[in-house]
Amino acid sequence: MTDGSDGSDGAASVLDAIATTRAIRRYRDEPIPTADLARILWHAGRAPSGTNRQPFRFLVLRDGPAALEARTVMGEAFRAGWSAKREAGGYRPSRFVDSMQQYVDRFEQVPVIVLVCLDRYRAPNPYEGASVYPACQNLLLAARAMGYGGALTMWHLDVEADLRRILAVPDHVALSACITLGRPEGRHGPVRRKPLAEITFDDRWGAPAAWAAGPDRT
Ligand SMILES: Cc1cc2nc3c(=O)[nH]c(=O)nc-3n(C[C@H](O)[C@H](O)[C@H](O)COP(=O)(O)O)c2cc1C
Repeated sequence: MTDGSDGSDGAASVLDAIATTRAIRRYRDEPIPTADLARILWHAGRAPSGTNRQPFRFLVLRDGPAALEARTVMGEAFRAGWSAKREAGGYRPSRFVDSMQQYVDRFEQVPVIVLVCLDRYRAPNPYEGASVYPACQNLLLAARAMGYGGALTMWHLDVEADLRRILAVPDHVALSACITLGRPEGRHGPVRRKPLAEITFDDRWGAPAAWAAGPDRT
């Protein structure tokens, strides 16, 4: 990918990646070479943060002893999390339901898991995520650009205490997100989102923006 500074191909491919980075939950049984992993995380780490303090940290779980233990604990949590959601949501059979089931059933085999953490430098506040979630999205976009796919999840919080113990995570560090990564079994494709006009106001809250249409005319 070029850097897009000439306003041509690079920028177009950035926009294309943004519009097609879906949550990928089915992975091929292929490891991610560490050079690729480093490249993905380098781009994730280019994200902005308040005063450029860069409090985000990437705790990578591959096949080390602590990672294997964490995978087991998380696998159980993810299966329980999905099972509860599935029951409460009353989902009809669908590709989404199948892919979620496969995701949790094979959680222990996910090629790479990244716990994106926030190394706090002040008391917790409601906006602290603003300095870590841009890095998460950069991570997903970089993975997408390199032919990988990922999903951001929060079910790891159900076993947070176990993860802290197994992975020696200090108290001042928040486990902000769990991102799974691998080569997609299926394909990326356009994300389905609300029409732009529904999420955009002009001048006052609730005032329609007549100009707010996307490239797909929504
Ligand atoms: C804050 C946040 C929490 C999420 N939590 C979960 C989760 O616990 N489990 C999961 O499978 N996906 C989770 N996701 C992924 C979303 O379900 C997904 O991005 C959304 O349904 C849109 O789907 P798409 O990205 O494939 O278009 C989460 C995403 C975000 C941003």
